[in-house]
Amino acid sequence: MIEVTDLTKLYGSTRAVSGLTFRVKPGQVTGFLGHNGAGKSTTMRLILGLHTPTAGKALINGVRKQELRDPMREVGAMLDAAEVQGGRSAFAHLQALAYAGGIGRRRVVAVLEEVGLAGAARKRIAGFSQGMRQRLGIAAALLGDPGVLILDEPVNGLDPDGIRWLRTLLRSLAAEGRTVLLSSHLMTEMSLTADRLIIIGRGRLIEDTTTADLLARFQSGVLVRSPHAARLSRALEAAGATIRPAEGADAGEEPVPGRPAEAGVDVRPIRDVGAGAGLLVTGLTAAAVGDIALANGCGVHELVSRRTSLEEAFMEITR
Ligand SMILES: Nc1ncnc2c1ncn2[C@@H]1O[C@H](COP(=O)(O)OP(=O)(O)OP(=O)(O)O)[C@@H](O)[C@H]1O
Ligand SMILES: [Mg+2]
Repeated sequence: MIEVTDLTKLYGSTRAVSGLTFRVKPGQVTGFLGHNGAGKSTTMRLILGLHTPTAGKALINGVRKQELRDPMREVGAMLDAAEVQGGRSAFAHLQALAYAGGIGRRRVVAVLEEVGLAGAARKRIAGFSQGMRQRLGIAAALLGDPGVLILDEPVNGLDPDGIRWLRTLLRSLAAEGRTVLLSSHLMTEMSLTADRLIIIGRGRLIEDTTTADLLARFQSGVLVRSPHAARLSRALEAAGATIRPAEGADAGEEPVPGRPAEAGVDVRPIRDVGAGAGLLVTGLTAAAVGDIALANGCGVHELVSRRTSLEEAFMEITR
């Protein structure tokens, strides 16, 4: 369990983290999201006792990191995979960490195997690719077989196999009852990996929710493409739907009259064009959209139900 309470960190006049409160519970993967500079890495450093909070506190299993009796077995972390002495071999690097933490050689062999570096164990880290360094960082985090894992952008640089491997690993570690906190900018991956999401902006909490609840809150919609987009759009609006032009919609001649400008909604006029302009429809099923198109003599070139992606939800929330 990680408990962050009223956590604040100032760097000079920069408020990196501001009155942040959240819990990261065992048994689930928690994703930590926020734009560049939002304060994710700073929060992780504060939790790990690498920086001192200006105010508030961050506890791991009820105590500050410095007060953990057996830190390597309680918490494993990867903050910056690049911060490793290049002259050593992967094995020597992990062996040194293991020695410091009172962990046996057998565990070093096991984690190298786990992260897929067994074959490169004796190679100098200086010659490692970015993905190999990332795997080595994950190996170091796993070394103490810890109950709490904190990983800052662990997916960076991993190949598709590696991304899938890490997803499976983190989900199984959580299923064993461990606490897993990871940050990432890869939204699709996050939506597949994380049960819960903590979203911050400018050091402040924006959302603390389950991934499923967050996605459910953002209405799904229907994408319809028609050469008679303007007529179709009027008919759909008359049936109670809300219409937005889909990304990449073509420009044509006939603007839709009288569409109110809503805050934050794209209000480019929807026009009829030969190629078929795209409309994003909310408030109607794909079947209803198809029926209305037919009833109004509007040809349909594409008709798809779409779910809001985590990326879209994130952009909306953090706008
Ligand atoms: N050691 C430091 N000294 C001064 N300012 C810092 C320091 N570390 C972070 N900051 C500032 O704190 C803010 C938060 O940075 P942080 O690295 O925590 O963001 P982040 O959410 O991890 O971003 P990213 O997605 O880019 O990794 C930024 O404005 C950053 O410039
Ligand atoms: Mg960061």
